[in-house]
Amino acid sequence: MCGIVGAVAQRDVSPVLLEGLKRLEYRGYDSAGLAVIDDNETIQRIRILGKVNHLYEKHESSPLTGGTGIAHTRWATHGKPSVHNAHPHICRNQVALVHNGIIENHSALREQQITAGFEFESETDTEVVVNAVYQALETETDLLQAVIEATRQLEGAYALGVINNSEPHRLVAARKGSPLVIGIGIGEYFIASDVFALLPVTQQFIFLEDGDIADIRRDSLVIYDKNLQLVDRPVNISELNADVADKSGYRHYMLKEIFSQPNAIAESLENRIQDNRIVVSEFGQDAEKVFKKTNTVKISACGTSYHAGLIAACWMEEIANVPCHVEIASEYRYRKSVVSDNTLFVSISQSGETADTLAALQKAKQSDYLSTLAICNVAESSLTRESELVFLTHAGPEIGVASTKAFTTQLVSLFMLVIAIARYKGLSNDQEAEFVKQLESLPGRVNQILQYKDKIETMAKDFADKHHALFLGRGSFLPVAMEGALKLKEISYIHAEAYAAGELKHGPLALVDDDMPVVAVAPNNNLLEKLKSNLEEVHARGGELYIFADKSSEVEVSENIHVLKINGFYDFMAPILYTVPLQLLAYYVAVIKGADIDQPRNLAKSVTVE
Ligand code: G6P
Repeated sequence: MCGIVGAVAQRDVSPVLLEGLKRLEYRGYDSAGLAVIDDNETIQRIRILGKVNHLYEKHESSPLTGGTGIAHTRWATHGKPSVHNAHPHICRNQVALVHNGIIENHSALREQQITAGFEFESETDTEVVVNAVYQALETETDLLQAVIEATRQLEGAYALGVINNSEPHRLVAARKGSPLVIGIGIGEYFIASDVFALLPVTQQFIFLEDGDIADIRRDSLVIYDKNLQLVDRPVNISELNADVADKSGYRHYMLKEIFSQPNAIAESLENRIQDNRIVVSEFGQDAEKVFKKTNTVKISACGTSYHAGLIAACWMEEIANVPCHVEIASEYRYRKSVVSDNTLFVSISQSGETADTLAALQKAKQSDYLSTLAICNVAESSLTRESELVFLTHAGPEIGVASTKAFTTQLVSLFMLVIAIARYKGLSNDQEAEFVKQLESLPGRVNQILQYKDKIETMAKDFADKHHALFLGRGSFLPVAMEGALKLKEISYIHAEAYAAGELKHGPLALVDDDMPVVAVAPNNNLLEKLKSNLEEVHARGGELYIFADKSSEVEVSENIHVLKINGFYDFMAPILYTVPLQLLAYYVAVIKGADIDQPRNLAKSVTVE
């Protein structure tokens, strides 16, 4: 999703802005641009369609220099990806602006501005904002007041960076609904959509809160809250290194992240287990009180995080005997729903900035929930700030758009949540110790599964020329199949759907032919025989089967049946284990197809707009 970088400094800020954009690439974008105020107090701008490397090239051939600047990677929402729709947008050579978010009342503002004599150069919702700031500057004393006045007119979500050539050493930033951080240097300040963008220049950050407006100069930073009261926001020292985002020799971030799962899982378990028991206080000070009262759990999330929720719901009902409902956040936020007594509301999110997940949490906070818990990978995110209880997944930064290690560490965290709640619903110490043992065995077992990579790479060759694929699973392995299908479609662009195996004959069987590979997840559990019958139905109709099965499940290779036998045994960790080969399958298919694996077309890592 759109990325913002900005800077006010003594030095030329163009290299900082370009590097910042490069570091924000992982968020997903289709065009990029940069504007600085040069020594003649003129705004200079370059914009491109395509990759940030192209912006570097353009900058090399016609360099811009200046101490104040803003830059942007755009993920098109209003108006197609093009140079003229790329940010920064400039009004009458005086005000330049970058924006992340969506201005919902842009049509009405555009009409008013056209009547007032403004001409539009783009189809974006953003251009009305830069015009509104310009318009306000005609009556307001300075850029800060003009931005305040302009944002009063806006409905929707925004993070903004604004510069004005008549105040060349000033940058005004504002946020409502879209994330923005301020980086503190020595005699210089920066803004960005996230801390990664700025790690090469600072480790000190202020996270703006919703409604904040920051007035930034080289030597001063003043922040106003949503009521325009002066506020002191805490300075956070980031522990991340600037090189956290390198590929460590792997060909893609996604592959690095798949292979870092044993370590990420071990990190997520660290300090969370003591004497074979889950440390409940890791969920927050009040966790014990809340979990004791919890009678029902409601989970809300998007994308891969939603799939983690679906698996957790199976665990919650089976282990803790607590009813658990899972809902896609974009659906839940607009639906009238009933909250039963003592229901815990759980949000799951890698980024903690997904607009729908945040909106669902806001709705939950106005409803009658017992408490709100965030399972999140980013400590300083909107989701963690807004939730009463927080459990961090400790996966480390995830750069590949297709989520992998965030998913498996979410599952580990959710399993700990299930045990923690189950403890107050009759789970014995011995049972808890047995579950803890399963958790602790995970890093090693995931590592074993990663060793199947060559076999999976070979299997992937069969998929490269296919246009559709069907994924089947049962019980807690249906969401595993859903996640496998999501991975395949998002990075290889092969249309892939997941179905509950029992639903096969209610529709999808009609699609099965030798051109439709069918992938099945077949652990040796109580549903194996049922699943085998479903697979027979596929085989009988000439379907090509790719089965991921336990060594003990007696699923054998034969014509049109390819089996990858996983050296395992069935326990509650199996959904996590079976996810890994499906990640690798999607990855290798995408490699064979030559797709842009870390930044798949049209997708964004952090979906900060609705
Ligand atoms: C985007 C990402 C997915 C992610 C989803 C939810 O679609 O590409 O990988 O699962 O957003 O994101 P969250 O940060 O809330 O987990």
